[in-house]
Amino acid sequence: MKNIYSNILKFNKNTLSKTLRYLKKNKIVGLPTETVYGLAGNAYSDESIKKIYSIKKRPKKNPLIIHYYNLNKASRDIEINNDFIKLYKKLCPGPITFVVKKKRSSKISNLSTAKLKTVAVRFPSNKKTRTILRKLNFPLAIPSANKSSSVSPVSAKDVAEEFRNKIKIIIDGGNAKFGLESTVIDLTNKAGILRPGIIGGLKISKILKKKISMVKSQKIIRSPGSLKKHYSPNIPMKLNQNKAKKNDAFIVFGKKYKNKKNSFNLSKKSNLNEAAKNLYRILRKIKKLKYKKISVVKIPYKGIGVAINDRLKHAAS
Ligand code: TXA
Ligand code: MG
Repeated sequence: MKNIYSNILKFNKNTLSKTLRYLKKNKIVGLPTETVYGLAGNAYSDESIKKIYSIKKRPKKNPLIIHYYNLNKASRDIEINNDFIKLYKKLCPGPITFVVKKKRSSKISNLSTAKLKTVAVRFPSNKKTRTILRKLNFPLAIPSANKSSSVSPVSAKDVAEEFRNKIKIIIDGGNAKFGLESTVIDLTNKAGILRPGIIGGLKISKILKKKISMVKSQKIIRSPGSLKKHYSPNIPMKLNQNKAKKNDAFIVFGKKYKNKKNSFNLSKKSNLNEAAKNLYRILRKIKKLKYKKISVVKIPYKGIGVAINDRLKHAAS
């Protein structure tokens, strides 16, 4: 059998040209971002977008995030409002995604936005992916590089294991800096968080000088990915537990938990950023070790802990 890791490439002049060539031919590549790894394709091409949905087995009604090098390039396709400018200036490039109105003249493939009139846009900070975005004259649709509803990948190896040899180019960017997805904020009416993420609501509130709510019950499904089972290792999982049976995996947080064979500590230092970075890596490890059940301790609901709790809740549903 062919080595499944053989499509993981170091980033250099040659692999950059090869990647650009692939993307221009509407092929799909694996790219690192500062949040999680993604599957990238030409956002202006129906052919590319179809491939992404098919490889991920993603429901067609769940739209993709369109990634740009900068606001200048994005302004061809989207309507820009004041809140957007304020957040862009302070936080971009970085781990935040904005849902905005699509211009009528936008060239973004309708298939990537589930035929909505809005579009989610992001400006990732990962240097390698930024170089690629800068050199292209189209944006990239980049969903997380996992099969629909499963755990997002945080290393190039994770991507290779998820899709075997289906993805011919995976650019190695080491371990993802944050290890958890971007915050998704809806700026089309009253600013509201659709998916909690790396950037907290408090920080956004301070920049916009107004209260930002979490959009919870949605009449129309505004962030379909935020509703169903998601981010899931497909192993039964119980949250807010104080202990675990010895054959079950036990995900803990903080130094009061002793090292045991079945325990996996998100952060011995009780650091929530470190916990976010370790969460998906640990879920993948537990799956590889073939545990049948997972218990998780209570994780503090503050800062990035809000996003961690959100992902755990979806993973457990
Ligand atoms: O950190 C990230 O955002 C990663 C990296 C690779 O950039 N990407 C990512 O993409 O998490 P994905 O496809 O796994 O999640 C996109 C989320 C989904 O929950 C989707 O429903 C939501 O964004 N979304 C996309 N377009 C939307 C729109 N027009 N309105 C509301 N939600 C939208
Ligand atoms: Mg995803």
